[in-house]
Order: sequence, then structure tokens, then C-alpha cells
Amino acid sequence: MRTSRRSDVDPFIVMDVMEAARAAEAAGRHVIHMEVGQPGTGAPQAAIRALGQAMDEGPLGYTVALGLPALRARIARLYGDWYDVDLNPDRVIVTSGASGGFILAFNALFDSGDRVGIGAPGYPSYRQILTGLGLTPVDLPTSAANRYQPVPDDFAGHDLQGLLVASPANPTGTMLDHTAMAHLVGAAQDVGASFISDEIYHGIEYEAKAVSALNVSDDVYVINSFSKYFSMTGWRAGWMVVPKDHVRVVERLAQNMFICPPHASQVAALAAMDATDELQANLDVYRTNRALMLEGLPKAGFMRIAPPDGAFYVYADVSELTDDSRAFAARILDEAGVAVTPGLDFDPVRGHQTLRFSYARTTDDIAEGLRRLKTFMDGR
Ligand SMILES: Cc1ncc(COP(=O)(O)O)c(C=O)c1O
Repeated sequence: MRTSRRSDVDPFIVMDVMEAARAAEAAGRHVIHMEVGQPGTGAPQAAIRALGQAMDEGPLGYTVALGLPALRARIARLYGDWYDVDLNPDRVIVTSGASGGFILAFNALFDSGDRVGIGAPGYPSYRQILTGLGLTPVDLPTSAANRYQPVPDDFAGHDLQGLLVASPANPTGTMLDHTAMAHLVGAAQDVGASFISDEIYHGIEYEAKAVSALNVSDDVYVINSFSKYFSMTGWRAGWMVVPKDHVRVVERLAQNMFICPPHASQVAALAAMDATDELQANLDVYRTNRALMLEGLPKAGFMRIAPPDGAFYVYADVSELTDDSRAFAARILDEAGVAVTPGLDFDPVRGHQTLRFSYARTTDDIAEGLRRLKTFMDGR
């Protein structure tokens, strides 16, 4: 049987690294995981308790397609708390993670063949999901001078129907400030491109609070998730905020594509939103780890890094060390016992000279990983 051309998407290379790390562990090696982009912690205790209670009380059948009303209301309240934005809960749509949000957003906004700009380096699945839906991802190479975030000049003349940005970004952790966000939203709207803001790393920020696209305009799609700050990757829960006149469009798609987001995860997510102490304790660990990384990576010889404003990644330019980041990452795993991600996932053109280091695990792990990296680099 034939398969479609649009299903011919690239694999997620970090998954291959994870598999290589697993195989090394199965063979008895001890591996420090700096490849995975997920918290080492689980869901907040309050989330687990709330779910236990809900399972005792009822069958957890389908919810309405847009999500539990109490969760939508609680998410809307977050926008008041975090951004001083007064958000109508009707505009909040609960999704199966940010990933489910992308599927709904891309289907709601674009027609086959539409061109959607994405910054390079960027989260790999943007490109693959767009391709899988018959859309055309347009890589916008960003520069270190712009801290690896797109600027309006990068897409002038590109005939885009959409622009997708992430702040803090994966793999760099860099953020757009209010001015930069406003320029991008304005420039996209000027050329009739729908603006999508991936805000999945909000809450994990170190110096300044991240700016939401909703601080700038109501005529945008915002996508967020319980995976990162709320430490609930496997629960597959996230949300979108869309313009009021798009809610029914997305609702019809959500009803048919997903019926509803996972009920159990919605119950847990609602409770997680009030687990502030536990979530802030996780953040304290990331903050300590970040400081260790910013000190330890240059000492080990990874000099060209963009200090991250948020998320839990450091992106390093290793062009002085290799032009084959995949082979270099494999050597680091093999010789140092540290799993890191080659940049090719994030930037198919320049990523053969970059690596991403994640510091989402425990501080002891990060300290040990940095020691191993230094020994590896000293002995190269
Ligand atoms: C920038 C970015 N967006 C979206 C996702 C997908 O997240 P989710 O688990 O909510 O589907 C990830 C996952 O790592 C990510 O890094």
C-alpha cells in the first residue's frame, strides 16, 4: 500500500539519542541525561491526590470538547496573575499538550500549501507537523546577534500565511521582550500572516517574566502546556487561547479530532495550578542548574553559548570543535557517558555545528555531567 508524500517527515533525532543512551545503560554504563527536554520531577502531589479522589468519585468519561469549564476558568485566571491580562475563559481551549494545540491551530488557520514561518533553530516538530498536514514550513535562519529569535526583516517578502514563534525558545532558551514581541506581531499582521505564540516554557524564566503575545494583541493564537512548568509531560494536557470568533471553529475540529482532552489529566492539571510551592521548588533547581551550566560549560571548552532567559536548555555553537554534531554527540555519549542532543534536530542547515544541553535533571546530575564533559574535552 502506498503512503502519502506528506507523511514523509524526519525522525526526532533526540529520540535516537535517548535510545542510544538507553542501550548504553542496558549494557551497564551510567549515563547523565542532558538530552531530554523534560523535568525529572513528576506531577505535583496535589495533582495526584485530586486524581485519586476523582477516580473514586466517578467514571471519568468524555468531557466537553473544549475542556472542563473549571479548568478553562482557572487557566484564564493565570493570565491575570502572570500577565495582568483580563482573559475571558470562553477563549481558552484545553488540548492534548501543546502538540494537540498545534494540530488544532494549524488546521483552524491554514489551507493546504500555506506557508508558515518558523525560526531556525527551533523546536523540530513544528516543521514536521506542518509538513504532515500538507503545509509548507519556511525556515527563517536567526542570528546570534538577535539571540536566535526571528525579527521582522527575516520574513519580509516571504509571502507567509502564518508565523510561529516560541519565547522562551527551544533549543536556546532565549526570550522576546515586549518590544520585540510587539514588532513581530505587528509585522505579521501587516502582511496578513496569522501569529502563533508557543509559550510552553512560560513560568520557567530566570531574570525577567516572559511576555505573552496576549500582552500585545488579542488577534493571536497562544499555545501552552502543562508539560514543563507544571511538570506533567506524560499527562498530555495543554491549552490554547484563540480570538473569540475562532472558538467555534476550533471546537468543531476538536470534537471530531480528539472528542476531548484526557479527562484524568484535566482533573490533575486543575489541581497542579495551585501547587505553587512545589512548582517554585522545581524552578529553584533549574535556576541552580543554569548557574552551574553557565559557569561549567565554558570551563569545559564550550565557549559559544547564548545565556538562556528561560526554559532549561543551553545551545552551544561547536563549529570550532566539529562539523558533524551527530558524530560528536555520539562520541560524548560513548566516551564521557553524557547524552546531549545534536543541533540537527533544531536547524537542518547549521545544526551540524551545534549541540543542545538540557539541565532539567537534578543538580547532582548536572554537576556530574559537567565534570564528565570537562574531562572529555580536556582529553580530546
Ligand atoms: C517548544 C516546544 N513546544 C512544544 C512542545 C511539545 O510539548 P507538549 O508536551 O505540551 O506536547 C515542546 C516539547 O518539548 C517544546 O519544546
